[in-house]
Amino acid sequence: MASYKIRDNIYSVGAVDWDIRIFHGYEVPRGTTYNAYLILDEKITLIDTVKAPFVDELIANISEIIDPKKIDYIISNHTEPDHSGSLPRLAELLPDTKIFCTAAADRELKAIYKREFNTTIVKPSETLNTGKYTFRFVPMPMVHWPDSMSTYLVEEKFLFSNDAFGQHIASNEKFDDELGRDLFFERAGDYYANIVLPFGKQVLKLMNDTKGLDISLICPSHGVMLRSYIADTVVKYSEWATDKVDEKRAVVVYDTMWGATKKLADSIAEEWRAVGIDVELISLKEKHISYAMSRLLEAKYIAVGSPTLNRNMLPSVAAFITYMRGLRPQKRIGLAFGIYGWSGEAAGQIEAVLNELKFEVLPLRRYMWNI
Ligand SMILES: Cc1cc2nc3c(=O)[nH]c(=O)nc-3n(C[C@H](O)[C@H](O)[C@H](O)COP(=O)(O)O)c2cc1C
Repeated sequence: MASYKIRDNIYSVGAVDWDIRIFHGYEVPRGTTYNAYLILDEKITLIDTVKAPFVDELIANISEIIDPKKIDYIISNHTEPDHSGSLPRLAELLPDTKIFCTAAADRELKAIYKREFNTTIVKPSETLNTGKYTFRFVPMPMVHWPDSMSTYLVEEKFLFSNDAFGQHIASNEKFDDELGRDLFFERAGDYYANIVLPFGKQVLKLMNDTKGLDISLICPSHGVMLRSYIADTVVKYSEWATDKVDEKRAVVVYDTMWGATKKLADSIAEEWRAVGIDVELISLKEKHISYAMSRLLEAKYIAVGSPTLNRNMLPSVAAFITYMRGLRPQKRIGLAFGIYGWSGEAAGQIEAVLNELKFEVLPLRRYMWNI
């Protein structure tokens, strides 16, 4: 990607990763971007960096605009390596450049990269003046790491939101409305379900902390910038953060060895459809666990099924169950099901996790050999 001028003095200088398909275990079928932003002022500021393999692209993009050695400040909103991965190289290139970050980020950067950085720790609402521009720091712990922070550019009303409001999509389009509503919210929802879902309380706090801010543009660290769908995205985030779901939507997630559990999955789907519920059947042989999570985001009902294999559920179903257990969806109605030959542990193991998640759990559906 080349650099892109957002407004006078403000550029997007990050990288597009067209080829990535699995991002820390999560499927990203349309690739992603690692966004970084360059702001020219009396002092020149870079907000975030890119994943290490893309550092040359970042430096080339910056070089289209200025000599990278002129960067005075780097704001590191998040230490995860997709955003901080170029910091070691930049720190070599720019030893005097100050890196602004939270106290947690300072600790994490040292621990991750096993080296010192020229960091300045910032506190909530603290500001940085670069000449005509003022940056206000808005820490957002656990959206989605302890160090996470967003940065507000007061004069332009830009919120550099880091991973909040991100979407995994590689595109030539730069803005939400260029993707269109359907694709934008599909990608934003998928991102929320797989990254942000466990942190609903922290998302609500971030909403509260940024409530008073007049925002003209949200510049996230992945995907396109938000200019047309800001209000709708805030509404969506509030709904997702409170597990507001469609009462008439269900997902039935399963795997099978010889087909009997699929028959049971089909019959559960038929029963639910018969009472007006919109059901999506998801075979874990065909779909990734992260796809199933993204479909659960707005669904009230979830049925999970597995045959018993060696006194356990199938590994594919165990992967989904483990993943869902970590992402902690709430307020769902759950159903465990499975087919077995003699001991039949799988369905009960699934049900135990549905109970642990405090779902309203429907009676177990478990049959010997076939339905
Ligand atoms: C390799 C293998 C191991 C199995 N282990 C168990 C087991 O430990 N306990 C049990 O009740 N059934 C066991 N079964 C039987 C299956 O659960 C049974 O065949 C079931 O109907 C398969 O459902 P499916 O058609 O959905 O794959 C095993 C089957 C296979 C092929």
